[in-house]
Amino acid sequence: MKKWYAVIGDPISHSLSPYMHDIWFHECGIDASMIPVHIRVGELKEGVAALKRLGVSGFNVTLPFKQEIVPLLGGLDAAAAEMNAVNTVSCNDGRLTGMNTDGDGFVRGLAGENVPKDAPILMVGAGGAARGIAFALKRQGFSRLYIANRTYRRAEELAAASGAIPLSIAEAEEQLGAMAAVINTTSAGLQDDTVPLKLTGLAPGTLVSDIIYNPLETPLLKQAADQGGRVQNGVVMFVHQGAIAFEAWTGIRPDTEPMIEKINRKLGGSYAHR
Ligand code: ATR
Repeated sequence: MKKWYAVIGDPISHSLSPYMHDIWFHECGIDASMIPVHIRVGELKEGVAALKRLGVSGFNVTLPFKQEIVPLLGGLDAAAAEMNAVNTVSCNDGRLTGMNTDGDGFVRGLAGENVPKDAPILMVGAGGAARGIAFALKRQGFSRLYIANRTYRRAEELAAASGAIPLSIAEAEEQLGAMAAVINTTSAGLQDDTVPLKLTGLAPGTLVSDIIYNPLETPLLKQAADQGGRVQNGVVMFVHQGAIAFEAWTGIRPDTEPMIEKINRKLGGSYAHR
């Protein structure tokens, strides 16, 4: 029988996950489909019970439910437990297991960029997204992570929890020239034209990666490209987090590079990776 998957959130109509997973199901010869399901704030418990009753095989979880879903699940993988947040759920014989593929998705995207594991990496931001990435970088053996944040105390807290080094934004700007990669996890540039730090000291060839993909080119990426940096937009992490979820559901590792190109094109840009 045809299997079905879902992506739940509020709002949900903008999600690109059904587009991406349906292409992969087709490419892999799997008789399955993903549908967006709008669950309203306050109705998560009923919504998840309904998905289960209707035989969902798995689902992605997006804003604002990544933490609220946790107590509704029967188990968590290590990444989800560490973050107390879930973006992927598998349903086997009515048992729901939560995973978090966001951080590992980011790190897979970094793997194609030749950033040595002992090279200094600067991450800007100390919120939920930053937390997932910091722990995933640590798990994968990246040993010199610096964390800078507008609110320094939050940088200190996340650095202490993840074995990183905290910096103020001013210190990060001063030390920028030594960094092999700069990762923006803040929402600066999402709905405004601000940058989370000045890139004046950026060394040419440094990778600048933004987890935002709407817009495809944030003000930070534009400045980085103008200064000779290599840029990576948030489509790369989006596709890799989806690929890890797809593999958990189906046992098959889907093709990511063509998907990164397709989604960049769908969002109206050229392939802004590299
Ligand atoms: P998320 O879960 O998406 O990471 P969050 O937990 O609200 O969201 O964290 C948002 C991050 O973006 C924080 O690091 C925040 O900095 P503060 O801790 O100082 O609030 C950062 N941020 C948001 N808007 C910013 C801006 N305009 N400039 C710099 N940093 C910003």
